[in-house]
Amino acid sequence: MYKILDKVDYSDDVYMQVIEAPAVAAAAQPGQFIVLRIHEEGERIPLTIADFDREAGTITIVVQAVGKSTRHLQTLGKGDSLSNFIGPLGLPSEIENYGTVVCAGGGVGVAPVYPIARALKEAGNKVISIVAARNKSLLLWEDKMREVSDELIVTTDDGSCGRHCLVTEPLKELCEAGGVDLIYAIGPGIMMKFCCKTTEEYNVKTIVSLNSIMVDGTGMCGACRVSVGGETKFVCVDGPEFDGHQVDFDLLMSRQRQYLEQEKISKELYEECRGDHKCLK
Ligand SMILES: Cc1cc2nc3c(=O)[nH]c(=O)nc-3n(C[C@H](O)[C@H](O)[C@H](O)COP(=O)(O)OP(=O)(O)OC[C@H]3O[C@@H](n4cnc5c(N)ncnc54)[C@H](O)[C@@H]3O)c2cc1C
Ligand code: FES
Repeated sequence: MYKILDKVDYSDDVYMQVIEAPAVAAAAQPGQFIVLRIHEEGERIPLTIADFDREAGTITIVVQAVGKSTRHLQTLGKGDSLSNFIGPLGLPSEIENYGTVVCAGGGVGVAPVYPIARALKEAGNKVISIVAARNKSLLLWEDKMREVSDELIVTTDDGSCGRHCLVTEPLKELCEAGGVDLIYAIGPGIMMKFCCKTTEEYNVKTIVSLNSIMVDGTGMCGACRVSVGGETKFVCVDGPEFDGHQVDFDLLMSRQRQYLEQEKISKELYEECRGDHKCLK
């Protein structure tokens, strides 16, 4: 069993949990993910490692409750335990001294960008970070990102904090000014798609982290397949990071919507019988 040592709610839908998982923490690297199951009959949920502490033996996850399993996870807090917690999975980020790197995170995508930005800074890069959200209440980890960045830009879609624009606006300006060697853009599919469209024009390599639908997370089921540079890749073993200019985002987003009807029914059933333990499965 994997104990939840801490839980913080950031908004109605977004929360952080710190999980006791020493073996995962010992091997974790930026860019990797875990797969957890709340209980023995539960769904497997892939989540990016947002932070790790090798000494304390903990992994931090930041989750947006979107459906049945992430809603159920949200009901658990300090002292509760998870049945399974597998990882680290996926290939780690390639951390080198590239020069100047822009790290852009959108929504909960800021959390997975954080360990990457920290490692890039430690490797000697100049790190310019963009923290973006729909509104002020959804802004995440601004302070943590500031600590590991040489420069921090905050944007909100509605102008309630920082610059009143989409993440792509400062990204375009930075590319236009020149001197950017690499870009990391992590967030919803649509945000990554438009970040890549923006940077493509300036020919600046842009790495994205894809969150396709996953089942086994080990390269055997094929559920997470995506098209990159015209080739089929498995996000769980070939990724989760890819060259964003090569990714077919429209295919990714349409595959993410594949089980929408079943997911809706499952969430409605869960919400109808909350409190009845049997229905939580
Ligand atoms: C490698 C990887 C890392 C991820 N990291 C994070 C993370 O750090 N934080 C986080 O909040 N989420 C992350 N996700 C997404 C997360 O796994 C899904 O949101 C979760 O599995 C949804 O489960 P559910 O049962 O609550 O919702 P479901 O009922 O299964 O789905 C509800 C709705 O959520 C959307 N959805 C479902 N699965 C995904 C998915 N894989 N990606 C995007 N949208 C999805 C669909 O629109 C769907 O209709 C990651 C996914 C992958 C593959
Ligand atoms: S999740 Fe099954 S192959 Fe990747």
